[in-house]
Amino acid sequence: MTQDKFASRVAVYPGSFDPITNGHVDIIKRGIRIFDEIIVLVAYNVNKETLFSVEERIQLIQENMKEIRGVKVDCHSGLLVDYLKSSGASIILRGMRALSDFEYEFQMALMNRRQTREIETVFLMSGFKWFYTSSKLIKEVASIGGSVKGLVPDNVHQRLIEKYNNIRR
Ligand code: PNS
Repeated sequence: MTQDKFASRVAVYPGSFDPITNGHVDIIKRGIRIFDEIIVLVAYNVNKETLFSVEERIQLIQENMKEIRGVKVDCHSGLLVDYLKSSGASIILRGMRALSDFEYEFQMALMNRRQTREIETVFLMSGFKWFYTSSKLIKEVASIGGSVKGLVPDNVHQRLIEKYNNIRR
């Protein structure tokens, strides 16, 4: 690891973002006070079927990043560490919610580190308001007509309503 790589302080914030939540937005806003640039990466998770297409997820994220300087949005379907290598970034940013996240995050961080020791995973603790929310739970509640207003950005709220109305028709 050269010191220059860390000096550029580009962090990749990977996730399924299906869809982006206010908890994710909070991590990005706090992260950009630490890093010079954050690449929000819509990454493929083999264990998840998604509600929104990659293009939809990117658009929903981009619409919320207009006011935040230093944030880019991208997507990747291969190994996360390969994306970091090709983009010259060396930091993975992840949010950590309740203790239940810890094991999953720890496994991923160690697996990524095993593949290349040039990459470090940095965790930001989730904002207290978002501690018990997840994209999965939000979709579950929205799919059966519950309110998720305030847990997701307005554009996501609107798209969830549209999506589930279409699915029910
Ligand atoms: O939001 P998620 O679903 O918890 O994010 C998981 C994600 C997308 C970061 C992870 O599955 C990932 O890194 N996928 C890319 C493929 C990869 O490198 N997998 C090995 C991770 S150790």
